Amino acid sequence: MDARPYPYDFIDKILITEEEIEKRVTQLGEQITRDYANSDQLLLLGLLRGSVTFMTDLMRKIHRPMTMDFMSVSSYSGAESTGFVRIDSDHKTNIYGWDVILIDDIVDSGLTIYTIRKILLDRRPRSLRTCALLDKVERHKIDIDIDYCGFSIPDHFVVGYGLDLDEKGRNLPYIASVDTKRYFNKA
Ligand code: IMP
Ligand code: MG
Repeated sequence: MDARPYPYDFIDKILITEEEIEKRVTQLGEQITRDYANSDQLLLLGLLRGSVTFMTDLMRKIHRPMTMDFMSVSSYSGAESTGFVRIDSDHKTNIYGWDVILIDDIVDSGLTIYTIRKILLDRRPRSLRTCALLDKVERHKIDIDIDYCGFSIPDHFVVGYGLDLDEKGRNLPYIASVDTKRYFNKA
């Protein structure tokens, strides 16, 4: 067998398997189904592009009427945050009166979720909660709580299940850590 069986040579190791992700996404879907039992205006609002894989799996585990929308925001260049969150494309739905769940792939400094949450609150949804597949708790620079969190992970740059490194790695069915030395020495 190949000593490096991964499709990208910058992968270090698998941190969360496909089976573990599926189990946790199912649990989150069940929790959201229970929490929104009295809502008929539930909107999942995903941040492009990283949340797409997670969100499309999660919504199939939510047994409530719902709709989906997206925003495109950016703050990252390579493996570093620029510290400035820019909206590249806004959501289309008028969220006034909606129960909104803001979904991202991963929380790092917390700046993205914090900034977008504040902007959305001004648009007066009925309720607003946050959801992320992954949370690097020790990297938070802002005091934020994620209402629905898949996994807390240590301070590693990760790819897979929608998450990318310079647009690569989104198609991996698992979450893997990146060997950043290997990647940046080559780039
Ligand atoms: P924050 O604003 O610092 O919390 O960064 C959140 C955003 O940074 C996420 O939406 C991701 O796009 C990106 N990001 C942070 N850490 C990682 C990572 O380990 N892998 C891939 N993307 C990441
Ligand atoms: Mg992102």
